[in-house]
Amino acid sequence: MKLLINEDFKKIYPDKITNDLNISEGVIKKEEYNKIKEGLIMTHKGKNFLLKNPDFKDLMFSIKRGPQIITLKDAGFIASQLGLMQGFRVLDCGGGSGAISCFFANIVGSKGEVVSVEKNDKFFEIIKSNADLFGFKNIKVINKDLSDYSSKKLFDAINLDLPNPWDYSSKVNGLLKNGSRLTVYVPNTTQLTHSQLEFSTKGFKLEHVFELMLREWDVNDLVCHPKFDMLGHTGFVMCFRKLEVNK
Ligand SMILES: C[S@@+](CC[C@H](N)C(=O)[O-])C[C@H]1O[C@@H](n2cnc3c(N)ncnc32)[C@H](O)[C@@H]1O
Repeated sequence: MKLLINEDFKKIYPDKITNDLNISEGVIKKEEYNKIKEGLIMTHKGKNFLLKNPDFKDLMFSIKRGPQIITLKDAGFIASQLGLMQGFRVLDCGGGSGAISCFFANIVGSKGEVVSVEKNDKFFEIIKSNADLFGFKNIKVINKDLSDYSSKKLFDAINLDLPNPWDYSSKVNGLLKNGSRLTVYVPNTTQLTHSQLEFSTKGFKLEHVFELMLREWDVNDLVCHPKFDMLGHTGFVMCFRKLEVNK
């Protein structure tokens, strides 16, 4: 996949094109588009676009969506709270659209692995196609309910983003290395307290609970203030650690 971007941040993600590209800024000739790998390209109306390979953030904004995907602010924060490193083996459930699975895969690298467990057949296919979009070979997508998933090898980190995480507290205890981290991402306070009660009796210590408020600002020659339309609540990030030290 390629990225065409202009100075107003208009982005188009065409692949190799078989017909001329007709956009509001004019027509890009297919011969011209297909002959260059990266560089400037002009529409017939004289508007310039830059053709380049998309980076991780560009691709993240172009992924296929099934269920609601996690925001970049929460994905980045969860990855840091899980202490992810290259070579880690991470379990992500429910996989959803695979957004955070892809985020993890980018960090753990080719020596690591992300296992994305998703029970819904349609979403399972979406995760696979999003992993392909990034070219990640280190994401294993499993089309199962988490309760039916098993692994002989323990994980270095686990993330849960599903409606009833507390139902899987014993399950994920059995899948995680002692001393390793678990994040639980939930939108409601009721889920938060329920999770705290359940996970605390299954070998997990709750270390932190966070909610991230992100304020983007408008800054230009005329104004300098927070944007008026702000994304309000997304979810709570619960950071547990499996700590079984008295067994
Ligand atoms: C909110 S989405 C996750 C979004 C994902 N974090 C992302 O960034 O794309 C929750 C997903 O969990 C899946 N799910 C719910 N319960 C599950 C279970 N018991 N086993 C596997 N997947 C489950 C749902 O089908 C849904 O796709």
